[in-house]
Amino acid sequence: MKEIRNLINITDLSVGEIDGLIAVADDIVKSPEAYQDICRHKKLATLFFEPSTRTRLSFEAAMLELGGSVLGFSSASSSSSAKGESVGDTIRTVGCYADIIAMRHPKEGAPIVGAGRTVVPIINAGDGGHFHPTQTLADILTIKRRLGRLSGLKIGLCGDLKFGRTVHSLIDAMQRYEGNSFVLISPDELRLPDYVKAGMDKAGANWSETRDLEGAMPELDILYMTRVQRERFFNEEDYIRLKDSYVLMRAKLAGARDDMIVMHPLPRVNEISVDVDEDPRAAYFDQVLNGKHIRMALILFLLGIERK
Ligand code: CP
Repeated sequence: MKEIRNLINITDLSVGEIDGLIAVADDIVKSPEAYQDICRHKKLATLFFEPSTRTRLSFEAAMLELGGSVLGFSSASSSSSAKGESVGDTIRTVGCYADIIAMRHPKEGAPIVGAGRTVVPIINAGDGGHFHPTQTLADILTIKRRLGRLSGLKIGLCGDLKFGRTVHSLIDAMQRYEGNSFVLISPDELRLPDYVKAGMDKAGANWSETRDLEGAMPELDILYMTRVQRERFFNEEDYIRLKDSYVLMRAKLAGARDDMIVMHPLPRVNEISVDVDEDPRAAYFDQVLNGKHIRMALILFLLGIERK
């Protein structure tokens, strides 16, 4: 029987496989007609127990552009989990209807439970404050397309590094490319979790911590901003105190290099002012479009389908 591949953590993919996905994403842009019918009769289920705009719709757009079809739900309240059904039973059920499943869940580790209960590939579309591997694929494609390389980069990660799952997955990926270093910019309360730091130490990654965004900016190749994750806080007072810790305005970019790029997984709240959108260094809407291309490549990879 063919081995089923899932994507729960970005480390489920080797560096060679990530590079292969980038190559397919680029080929999709170059020759879209070669892919428009490649997933005919295949179905993608999107099971979103948490809100989403980009991830769910880009997965659905990706499958539709590959000629397949989509089914699913966009909130826990419209599924039988509202009646008490377990994640495992939901996944086992949907595995009877779909060829591949993308799921988002507020509980860390929920996709692992799902992967143990089905015979179709499961993609983690974000689990609590843990990981978000397909955002990382979108981020990596954006870095490659904008900067032309994935190694030898100084990456500043700013904001809510505690609950920001996109940051955890991005570090897990970029520390595997040679010569990258990380500057962790956050308030003390929102520092990167120890388990992610331990991973960096094990990988021999070079990293430092600071609260000072403007002090760190001149040396960065990439500034990756993040939203303070209100939904993961235990009390509203802490959120209100911390939510505007960093607000990037165009004037603050005066200290940054001309070739630095500004990234953000979106949605943003206040942390990047709209006047930054017109700056050529702003790359966050590139991430949105690149997310569709790389998810197309990922669906093909996990279904074992290649361009003829
Ligand atoms: N970046 C991201 O995960 O966005 P959504 O929450 O809109 O899917």
